[in-house]
Amino acid sequence: MDDMMRFESRILDLTMNLAVLGAQWGDEGKGKIVDLLTPRFDIVARYQGGHNAGHTVYVNGTKFVLRLIPSGILHPGVVCVIGNGVVVDPQALFAEVDELARNGIQVDGRLFVSDKAHLILPYHRDLDLLSEARRGERKIGTTSRGIGPAYEDKIARRGVRVGDLNDPKGLEQNVRDNVVARNRLVHDSTMEWEAVLGQLQELGTRLKPMVRDVSLMLAEAMAAGKSIMFEGAQGTLLDIDHGTYPYVTSSNASIGGVCTGLGVGPRAINGVMGVVKAYTTRVGEGPLPTELHDAMGQRLRDSGNEYGAVTGRPRRCGWYDAVAVRYGVRVNGLDALALTKMDVLDGLEELQICTAYRCGDRTITEFPSDIGQLAACVPVYETLPGWNTPTKGVRRFDDLPENAKRYIARLEQVSGVPAALVSTGSERDDTILRADVLAARLPGFKTTL
Ligand code: GDP
Ligand code: IMO
Ligand code: MG
Repeated sequence: MDDMMRFESRILDLTMNLAVLGAQWGDEGKGKIVDLLTPRFDIVARYQGGHNAGHTVYVNGTKFVLRLIPSGILHPGVVCVIGNGVVVDPQALFAEVDELARNGIQVDGRLFVSDKAHLILPYHRDLDLLSEARRGERKIGTTSRGIGPAYEDKIARRGVRVGDLNDPKGLEQNVRDNVVARNRLVHDSTMEWEAVLGQLQELGTRLKPMVRDVSLMLAEAMAAGKSIMFEGAQGTLLDIDHGTYPYVTSSNASIGGVCTGLGVGPRAINGVMGVVKAYTTRVGEGPLPTELHDAMGQRLRDSGNEYGAVTGRPRRCGWYDAVAVRYGVRVNGLDALALTKMDVLDGLEELQICTAYRCGDRTITEFPSDIGQLAACVPVYETLPGWNTPTKGVRRFDDLPENAKRYIARLEQVSGVPAALVSTGSERDDTILRADVLAARLPGFKTTL
């Protein structure tokens, strides 16, 4: 491969910490973007969510799906950190560690977990399923990984934290109280607290060398001039506060989660990049104004391989929703976009971009705060011509077909921020780096172009 075309060689230096997060409903391609940028950082840190995330990275045809472990882990010299804002299922964590090891990726000495992170225990998974069953038609469509119930216990101040594994007496009491209480909630459950404790102690021994005071670790790294990438899971519209509540996940996927989920101050975040797909998808229930129930929706699902990386569920697909992305720009203070999956739109005759919503007899351009109003909104579309020359694998902006350039330009205009990266395939190097946008919006990146 022409070395000049290799993505990493085009970024010379980096003098900033960057947050990379989803600005839609998750699955925007965060894993690919984080992996791609990782060589320019010393540390990659996850700040929220758990193994409900599925971040896909392709390296020379090999597929990796990162769930709990930051997507920077595939680069051997990089340190990866799981912050206090993450809920950790220790079984899932080690399953992931073992799978990486089978693929030749060692995590020893470079994967660390906050002592303040809360644990997902077996009863959390049961409660997740129970809660969904009880909601019936109003179910959220969760990933059934126990994420919500684990965060519930955290907020109720009865959770078990990673650091508690060092306090055998306290741990025993906490696990016993929790299991007994849960058995009362889940009527036919006969879960034995001794068994839960035993399993936890075993996993705790393996976890011990990874446990750190992450806030301190990051502060020391920054003082030593190291750079950090903050990796979001899920997306802004799944954020517990700013998303389409109650059809959301149970953590702050948007920018505020970085500070609370890692113990860093706001000035540690020097730039914010929002990852967006060139169209829209959502898994699970809840409003999705641009959803397509027709053949075009299926076309996007097929071409984009829109099936959940965690649960395999078909993703709901629709046109690009600039109202929703503008909201993501506002809530996160986005500096730039990373626009993914442009190639999925190859060969379409026409494309639609949603620029506003029609609600009753009103046209609105701001994302409604009220979910009932959102559910009643109908998209207002602008039609753009498609392109026949494929964008797949294109690595220079100038090599894109004219109509693809026009689509990007219009998308940027209506979204309110330009795209610093344009992704044209799932492989690392199938990416366009726009040095002019980076220089203007994220000046901490020094590029060769
Ligand atoms: P994440 O959760 O945000 O990391 O995204 P997922 O991994 O769940 O879903 C994104 C999917 O799109 C993955 O299968 C990626 O390999 C794939 N992908 C990412 N960027 C591109 C792209 O530019 N083109 C195509 N065709 N696929 C992409
Ligand atoms: P990544 O990081 C897309 C969705 C679920 C459900 C809701 C709540 O890969 O983008 P939860 O199990 O978190 O309580 O489910 O959130 N959801 C995601 N959707 N991408 C994800 O992660 C998601 N993680 C959770 O489908 O609607
Ligand atoms: Mg995903």
